[in-house]
Amino acid sequence: MGKKSKEKVILFCDGKKCCKYNSEVKECFQDLVKEAGLKDVVSVQKMKCQGLCKHAPIFCIHKDECVGKVSTQDAKELFAKHIA
Ligand code: FES
Repeated sequence: MGKKSKEKVILFCDGKKCCKYNSEVKECFQDLVKEAGLKDVVSVQKMKCQGLCKHAPIFCIHKDECVGKVSTQDAKELFAKHIA
Protein backbone atom coordinates (compact mmCIF):
# COMPACT_ATOMS: atom_id res chain seq x y z
CA MET A 1 0.00 0.00 0.00
CA GLY A 2 1.24 3.48 -0.84
CA LYS A 3 1.59 6.23 1.66
CA LYS A 4 -1.69 7.96 2.39
CA SER A 5 -1.69 11.33 0.71
CA LYS A 6 -2.01 14.33 2.95
CA GLU A 7 -5.17 16.36 2.83
CA LYS A 8 -3.72 19.81 2.58
CA VAL A 9 -0.66 21.17 0.96
CA ILE A 10 1.37 24.32 1.33
CA LEU A 11 3.45 24.86 -1.79
CA PHE A 12 6.52 27.02 -1.96
CA CYS A 13 8.22 28.07 -5.14
CA ASP A 14 11.73 26.75 -5.20
CA GLY A 15 12.76 28.52 -8.38
CA LYS A 16 15.98 30.47 -8.68
CA LYS A 17 14.60 33.73 -7.35
CA CYS A 18 12.19 32.51 -4.69
CA CYS A 19 14.69 30.13 -3.11
CA LYS A 20 16.77 33.16 -2.12
CA TYR A 21 13.91 34.52 -0.05
CA ASN A 22 11.74 31.60 1.02
CA SER A 23 13.67 29.80 3.76
CA GLU A 24 12.43 31.80 6.76
CA VAL A 25 8.80 31.66 5.63
CA LYS A 26 9.08 27.99 4.75
CA GLU A 27 10.39 27.23 8.24
CA CYS A 28 7.59 29.32 9.71
CA PHE A 29 5.00 27.21 7.86
CA GLN A 30 6.73 24.00 8.94
CA ASP A 31 6.69 25.17 12.57
CA LEU A 32 3.02 26.16 12.36
CA VAL A 33 2.13 22.72 10.99
CA LYS A 34 4.13 21.03 13.73
CA GLU A 35 2.73 23.22 16.51
CA ALA A 36 -0.82 22.57 15.33
CA GLY A 37 -0.14 18.81 15.40
CA LEU A 38 -1.06 18.58 11.72
CA LYS A 39 2.04 16.90 10.34
CA ASP A 40 -0.03 13.93 9.16
CA VAL A 41 -2.54 16.14 7.40
CA VAL A 42 -0.58 19.01 5.94
CA SER A 43 2.50 18.75 3.78
CA VAL A 44 4.88 21.49 2.78
CA GLN A 45 6.09 20.85 -0.77
CA LYS A 46 8.12 22.64 -3.35
CA MET A 47 6.94 23.65 -6.77
CA LYS A 48 8.69 24.94 -9.87
CA CYS A 49 9.09 28.57 -10.84
CA GLN A 50 5.64 30.06 -11.28
CA GLY A 51 6.74 32.84 -13.58
CA LEU A 52 6.04 35.37 -10.86
CA CYS A 53 9.64 35.88 -9.84
CA LYS A 54 9.19 39.63 -9.39
CA HIS A 55 6.98 38.81 -6.42
CA ALA A 56 9.31 36.30 -4.76
CA PRO A 57 8.85 34.43 -2.55
CA ILE A 58 5.68 32.79 -3.88
CA PHE A 59 3.62 30.44 -1.71
CA CYS A 60 0.37 28.68 -2.61
CA ILE A 61 -2.02 27.22 -0.11
CA HIS A 62 -3.75 24.14 -1.35
CA LYS A 63 -3.68 25.68 -4.85
CA ASP A 64 -6.51 27.95 -3.65
CA GLU A 65 -4.51 31.03 -3.08
CA CYS A 66 -1.10 31.94 -4.40
CA VAL A 67 0.57 34.86 -2.74
CA GLY A 68 3.73 36.79 -3.48
CA LYS A 69 6.18 38.62 -1.25
CA VAL A 70 5.14 36.41 1.64
CA SER A 71 6.47 37.36 5.08
CA THR A 72 6.33 35.27 8.23
CA GLN A 73 3.40 37.42 9.36
CA ASP A 74 1.59 36.63 6.08
CA ALA A 75 2.39 32.96 6.64
CA LYS A 76 0.65 33.03 10.02
CA GLU A 77 -2.41 34.72 8.51
CA LEU A 78 -2.55 32.30 5.55
CA PHE A 79 -2.21 29.37 7.90
CA ALA A 80 -5.03 30.65 10.12
CA LYS A 81 -7.25 31.32 7.12
CA HIS A 82 -6.74 28.08 5.18
CA ILE A 83 -5.36 25.42 7.45
CA ALA A 84 -5.92 25.87 11.18
S1 FES B 1 11.43 31.66 -8.90
FE1 FES B 1 9.56 31.69 -7.88
S2 FES B 1 8.19 32.46 -9.34
FE2 FES B 1 10.05 32.28 -10.40
